[in-house]
Amino acid sequence: MAHPHLELTARPRRNRRTPAIRDMVRETELSPAHLVLPLFVHRGPVEPIDSMPGVNRWSLDGLVGEVGRAAELGVRAVVLFEAAPEEIKTPTGDEAWNPDGLIPQTIGAIKAHHPDTVVMTDVALDPYNSDGHDGIVAPDGTIVNDETVEVLCRQALTHADAGADIVAPSDMMDGRVGAIRETLDHHGHTEVGICAYTAKYASAFFGPFRGALDSAPRSGDKKTYQMDPANSREALREMELDIAEGADMVMVKPAGPYLDVVRLFADASVVPVAAYQVSGEYLMVKAAAASGWLDEQAIITETLGGIRRAGADVILTYFAVQAARLLS
Ligand code: PBG
Repeated sequence: MAHPHLELTARPRRNRRTPAIRDMVRETELSPAHLVLPLFVHRGPVEPIDSMPGVNRWSLDGLVGEVGRAAELGVRAVVLFEAAPEEIKTPTGDEAWNPDGLIPQTIGAIKAHHPDTVVMTDVALDPYNSDGHDGIVAPDGTIVNDETVEVLCRQALTHADAGADIVAPSDMMDGRVGAIRETLDHHGHTEVGICAYTAKYASAFFGPFRGALDSAPRSGDKKTYQMDPANSREALREMELDIAEGADMVMVKPAGPYLDVVRLFADASVVPVAAYQVSGEYLMVKAAAASGWLDEQAIITETLGGIRRAGADVILTYFAVQAARLLS
């Protein structure tokens, strides 16, 4: 008896039949070279962060060790955040540009031990601002733009002087990319890049991070500077401005809930696109896996693969080391 068959000219399953065929036709590659590991540093011994299981607040030495372990697995880029003690926070966040501060020290230590690792730094005032905002808060509660940009320029210059490869302004003030570019160039740092947090949304997914740094706004929210989650056309406007002002990379943050914006950027941007899988995205996976409901390893590669497929060249993720281990 003849085999019964449908008369189909196209059977897409043929391209999925064996592992070798699937590998051959795969459109998106996930490799550690695209991952950036966010690291938290503080003045004290290494300690786990309650709001982010599996993530530590490192001592300076501990952090340098972690940078080495990441590099061995192929993760050769990190972005630094300081958990600053309450005593050093001020309304103008002056610790942000202290050349003897913990971030400049950490940059120096990483560069001394792992010169090939790309050191990115966060440029924003929230870790050092007693109001918990990314900018300076005026008496009437507004976040003042131009005065903040001046301080951000000093902060970026301090990081560049200490040896940072790329500064990443995450504050969402207007005009900061151009101002930082001018400041860096004026001081001879023409080689230091700017990765702009271009479409940074006023997102509830940052909650665990603010727990890690104890940096939540003391009053109000970040909606006058971070973007409305409902908007994507506005993200293109931010993108055009950042690129015109000299950004070397443009970022979308968070990543997973904003994959449409990642795709918009990927289609329209002439510079590489980064996406940040933020603390809340990390925590959702960790919590679901801890309860036994999801397969953590499979979810890690699927979420990161999805961000790549949406068009991100670079992904900042707390899973960077774990993912690199899975990929090796
Ligand atoms: C602050 C900053 C934030 C994150 C990175 N830089 C938090 C915020 O804007 O409130 C969030 C990262 C994360 O949630 O993983 N400038």
